[in-house]
Amino acid sequence: MRALVFGSLNIDYVYQVPYFVQRGETLASASFQRFCGGKGLNQAIALSRAGLETWMAGSVGPEGDFLLEELRRAGVDTGLVFRSETPTGHAIIQNSPDGDNCILLYGGANRAITPMMAREVLQNFDPGDLLLVQNEIIALAEIVTQGKERGMLVALNPSPMDAALVRKLLPSVDILILNRVEAEQLLGEKSEEPRQALAKLSRLSPSTLLTLTLGGDGALLLDRGECIAQPAFPVQPVDTTGAGDSFTGYLLAGLLQRMSRQDALRYAAAAAALAVTRHGAAPSIPTRDETLHFLAEG
Ligand code: RIB
Repeated sequence: MRALVFGSLNIDYVYQVPYFVQRGETLASASFQRFCGGKGLNQAIALSRAGLETWMAGSVGPEGDFLLEELRRAGVDTGLVFRSETPTGHAIIQNSPDGDNCILLYGGANRAITPMMAREVLQNFDPGDLLLVQNEIIALAEIVTQGKERGMLVALNPSPMDAALVRKLLPSVDILILNRVEAEQLLGEKSEEPRQALAKLSRLSPSTLLTLTLGGDGALLLDRGECIAQPAFPVQPVDTTGAGDSFTGYLLAGLLQRMSRQDALRYAAAAAALAVTRHGAAPSIPTRDETLHFLAEG
């Protein structure tokens, strides 16, 4: 079983701010750092650090070499990443003192992917291989449809949410991992009770395994009517950027490594807990040993 992440590679420009900048306001930041990021890159690193044989497919511009080097250092194969004349995608990230963030994306080379590239990449994979996608690249519908046609196990982290697109793709998605805001956007309504939101989501696609992440309240997994809860591990957050990506990679790795649903959720929650105690997206993703050690200590 191999894992392919077809997704974004971003340069993250991270600014430490006292609070998120308001409309019409000019706000001074206390510090600035540049990190490797992009939900695709982060999740590929998480899968690889969790022990899966992982490939990254996507597109970077002329200044994106250091992103590929970071992936390779984490053991990810970058042979399927295309080079583009368009600048590499980037994210402007505000990080507040309580560790929260808000993110402005520029798609850049991530938006230079074509259905033809999707075909070229996917022909290297077999039935049963994992295809993990997010929504920071274009040609998503073609990638998911072709992956499903090849018999791959399709996992979708639909971020940033495009409700119409995700509703269309859901029947082809085996595993959906989303947060509370994305669930509300997908359902088109506010939901006080996460379990109710999950039940409504499952009506959209009954055979899809659903995972709802709830930040400090942990996560829920719903699989054919059975709902499993996992609390978050209590840690002091410094930067939540990339925590969801750590969670996604470790959850999928755990499930594919044949852990029980509960153990895979716990593994993912531990990886996310470690990630929020560190700065940056990709650099915050723990290794398998760190995650197992954290669990053993806990
Ligand atoms: O999930 C975190 C990621 O979202 C960041 O690395 C940023 O690049 C955006 O894609």
